[in-house]
Amino acid sequence: MAVLDVKDIRKSFGQTEILKGISFSLEKGQVVSIIGSSGSGKTTLLRCLNFLETPDGGSIAVNGQTLFDAAAPAAQREADIRRKRLHFGLVFQSFNLFPQYTALENVTLAGRLLAKEEPDYKDRKKDIFARIDGEARQLLAQMGLSDRMDNYPHQLSGGQQQRVAIARALALRPDILCFDEPTSALDPELTQEVLRVIRQLADRQTTMVIVTHEMAFARDVSTQVIFMDDGVVVESGSPEQVIGAPTQERTRRFLDSYNQA
Ligand SMILES: Nc1ncnc2c1ncn2[C@@H]1O[C@H](COP(=O)(O)OP(=O)(O)O)[C@@H](O)[C@H]1O
Ligand SMILES: [Mg+2]
Repeated sequence: MAVLDVKDIRKSFGQTEILKGISFSLEKGQVVSIIGSSGSGKTTLLRCLNFLETPDGGSIAVNGQTLFDAAAPAAQREADIRRKRLHFGLVFQSFNLFPQYTALENVTLAGRLLAKEEPDYKDRKKDIFARIDGEARQLLAQMGLSDRMDNYPHQLSGGQQQRVAIARALALRPDILCFDEPTSALDPELTQEVLRVIRQLADRQTTMVIVTHEMAFARDVSTQVIFMDDGVVVESGSPEQVIGAPTQERTRRFLDSYNQA
């Protein structure tokens, strides 16, 4: 069964249709990279998957459960958006850490808030917080940040901040981890350290959707590459096919513009 099944997602802003029917699916442990020029709708698609935007059409299912169906009655669609969001983790271009919290606090914050809804929260608070804290430390260690847990974001490099953001996204154990150009705000050296941890996650069978303009990385890490242009999927398939031997003229032009840069 597909972990993620996206069917015919459409989204307009005003009169302009930005997503014109995007479909793809993803099995557990697979990595899909989405490539395409600026303005092609990649961020809008990720925002739709994470319920930060409501699609105008189409459906989104996770592990066979329909989380969104534009054809369903409005009341049903609105039901418990927060729970639905928990299926997805999102790592933004610009990290978006909370500046007033340490690295560790950034990673534990959402879990602590959610814990309040658990039964017997008051009696079990100490145990619950200890568990959340332990898991956060483990994730930060996995991100190579054992010695940075008590630092505030402004005391960290961009690459370190982005690795904290990845730990934070993983802390709620999402079914699918999404990245929106996770390295585009970083210089080449810091880019490599972030790509290394994403590579590690792929090796550990983390199911991921990665919007990236790092072509060599996309080719290396992905099970599937999707080339988007002007709100449609122009071409999709294995990295060898889409990046190595594209069949569509638009894909070739896009890749050529990269090779010349
Ligand atoms: N909230 C919004 N309101 C109006 N237009 C938007 C909004 N968000 C994105 N757009 C437009 O949608 C198009 C696709 O944007 P985006 O999804 O950010 O593309 P990409 O991430 O591929 O660069 C752009 O033309 C952008 O200006
Ligand atoms: Mg974008």
